[in-house]
Amino acid sequence: MSEYLKTGLLTDAERTRLIDAALRSREVAYAPYSNYRVGAALLAGDGTIYTGCNVENATYGATVCAERTAVVKAVSEGVRDFRAVAVAAEHGGIPCGICRQVLYEFAPDLLVIAVDAGGRVVGEYTLSEDLLPNAWGAKDLDGFDA
Ligand code: THU
Repeated sequence: MSEYLKTGLLTDAERTRLIDAALRSREVAYAPYSNYRVGAALLAGDGTIYTGCNVENATYGATVCAERTAVVKAVSEGVRDFRAVAVAAEHGGIPCGICRQVLYEFAPDLLVIAVDAGGRVVGEYTLSEDLLPNAWGAKDLDGFDA
């Protein structure tokens, strides 16, 4: 395993399962406008994986990213506890700014695994440390006591 892997956060079997799920989800991406296909696989605390792909739209702005598709699927099934997400895209998927914020809402310390189209891990990150440091969140809302 390469030095960029954040070892200890996931077993090798969990990492492999998550990467495979992200690649499979990428296969059903609906991206006729950008041709940039993305698959995401979100690992819940109980071991369930929620997948998502990007779903584009002719209005462009209505496009939903793969990561948010996965989050919305999980949360709408009553699941809000997440350990890791694998994101697969041509040269390695990494969440956009909007997706980072949405993931942060539920899992500030989420492990994010960037995977290329061949299933190779190109980077691993901790959301709050590496991708969204000094994040704004629920704690910053006056009077909100989560
Ligand atoms: N996309 C994702 O699905 N996830 C990201 O984090 C980055 C961007 C999608 C949105 C759009 O369908 C395509 O990639 C090009 O932006």
